[in-house]
Amino acid sequence: MNLPNMKEAQTRTTDKTNYIYLNNNADKAYAGKKYFIRTYGCQMNVHDSEEISARLENLGFSKVETIEEADIVILNTCAIRENAHDKLYGFLGRCKHEKENNNKDLIICICGCMPQEEKVANDLIKNHPYVDIVFGTHNIFELEDMLLNKMERQDIRVYSKEGEVYENIPYKRDSKFKAWVDIQYGCDKFCTYCIVPYTRGKQRSRKSEEIIKEVECLVKNGYKEVTLLGQNVNAYGKDINDLSFAELLLKVSDTGIDRVRFVTSHPWDFSDDMINAIASRDNIMPYIHLPLQSGSSRILKLMGRRYTKEEYITLFKKIKDTIKNVAVTTDIIVGFPNETEEDFNETLEVVNECKYDSAFTFIYSPREGTPAAKMQDDISLEVKEERLHKLNDLVNKYAKENNLKYEGKIVKVLLEDYSEKDKNLLMGYTDTMKLVNVKADPKYLGSIVDVKITSAKSWSLDGEIVEEK
Ligand code: SAH
Ligand code: SF4
Ligand code: F3S
Repeated sequence: MNLPNMKEAQTRTTDKTNYIYLNNNADKAYAGKKYFIRTYGCQMNVHDSEEISARLENLGFSKVETIEEADIVILNTCAIRENAHDKLYGFLGRCKHEKENNNKDLIICICGCMPQEEKVANDLIKNHPYVDIVFGTHNIFELEDMLLNKMERQDIRVYSKEGEVYENIPYKRDSKFKAWVDIQYGCDKFCTYCIVPYTRGKQRSRKSEEIIKEVECLVKNGYKEVTLLGQNVNAYGKDINDLSFAELLLKVSDTGIDRVRFVTSHPWDFSDDMINAIASRDNIMPYIHLPLQSGSSRILKLMGRRYTKEEYITLFKKIKDTIKNVAVTTDIIVGFPNETEEDFNETLEVVNECKYDSAFTFIYSPREGTPAAKMQDDISLEVKEERLHKLNDLVNKYAKENNLKYEGKIVKVLLEDYSEKDKNLLMGYTDTMKLVNVKADPKYLGSIVDVKITSAKSWSLDGEIVEEK
C-alpha cells in the first residue's frame, strides 16, 4: 500500500540511537501526568502496548483506567476485520467530546495496524484534526520524540516499509509471572483475505541468541512462563538463516523456564521436528493453536492457505498421536466469497473430526487492498450469520465435552491473578490453556500448583488447590 505524506523507513531522519531504546534525556518531562491506553487485536498488539506503556512511563506518565482521568489517551488499533473501524470511530467520538467539553489539553493518540491503511491515515488527516499523534507499527520508538517535541498541528508518522529488527526494546509488562516474547515480526504468507502482511510488513525474525538472552533474563526475574509470538512461528528463522523453530523451542526450553508457549502456528511448514520437540519436553506446553480457516480444499485454495483438508487432518492426527494430552484450538472463517453449502458442510465435517478444544469463528470481512476483496462476494449476510451460528453450536458442544473430561482430575495451574468472576478466587491456565477459577489462598499467586477440577463449563473450569500435606 502506498501511504500518503509518510516518510519511508529508509529515508527517515530520526536519530535512531536516541529513540529505539529508552530516551534517557527525557527527564520525566511529563511527570505527574496520566495515560489511558486501550488495545485491540492480537497478542502482538498487546505486547506493543507494553512497549508504549514503558515509553510513556519513562516520560513520567502513570497509568489510569478511565479517559476522564487521563492527560493522554492511546488507542492501539487492529485492522483485521471491518468492525475495527466502528471501534476506532466510537473511541474517537468519546475522546473528542472529552477534549471539547472537559479537557482541552487532552492528547489523543492513534497507533497500531489501522493507521497503516492508507484510507484510515488519510481520514485522520482530513477529518479528525483533533487527533494529535498518529504512528504506525514500524515506528513505535518515535513516540517519545513526538511527545518531547510536540507540535501544534497533527503529528503523523507512519512508515509504509518495515525497518530493521530492533533489540533492547523497553517493556512495562502486564504480568509479573508470564511474558510475551516476540520472535518474529510481520508475515509474508499473504493469505488472500488477510491484511496483516500489509500492516506489519514482511517476515523478519529476531536472532535466536537475542531471544534466548531475553528469556534467560525473564527467568532470572522470576517469570514462570513465556509465550513466543509471531504470525507464523513455524517459519521462524527462515529469513535470516538462523535456527529452525523446533531448534529454537528446544533452546528456550533449555533455559529452565517452567512453561513455554507459542502462537500462532500455520499448518503450512509445521514440521515433524516441531511436533517431536514439543512432545519431548515437559516445559513446552501441550497446546497448539492450529488455524483451519475452512474445511473445503477448494476454499482453502482461494484463501491461499497452501494445504488441503486432507493434509490438515493428517497433521492434526499426527499432533494428537505424538503429543500426550495435547489440546488444539483453531480459527475458522465462514462466508468467504463463493463458499457454497457443500464447502461449509466440509468445514463442519472437519470440526466433527477434530473436536477442537475451542475455536475462534469469524464471518469473512473484506479488507481493502487484499486479493479476496476483489472476489465477488455473493453470499447474503443472513446466510453467513446462519452458518456462523451453526458452526458455533458445534464448536461449543466439543468445547464442553473436552472440558467435562477434566472433572475430578488434578491439573497444574499457574495462578496469575484474582478471578474476574469472583475476587475471592484466583485464576490461571492449565498446561493445555484451559482457564480455571481456583479456590486458593492469595499467597499462591505466581505459583504453579496442583488444582482439583470440581466442575466444567464450555469456556472455563472451576477447581480448588490441592495443598501439600
Ligand atoms: N497468523 C495467524 C492469523 C492471524 S489473524 C494465522 O495465519 O493463523 C487471526 C484470525 O483472524 C485468522 O486466523 C482468521 O481466522 C481471522 N481473519 C483474518 N482476516 C480475516 C478477514 N478478512 N475476515 C475474517 N476473519 C479474518
Ligand atoms: Fe494473515 Fe495468513 Fe499471515 Fe496469518 S499467515 S497473518 S492469516 S497472511
Ligand atoms: Fe490486528 Fe494487526 Fe494483530 S491487524 S490481528 S493487531 S497484526
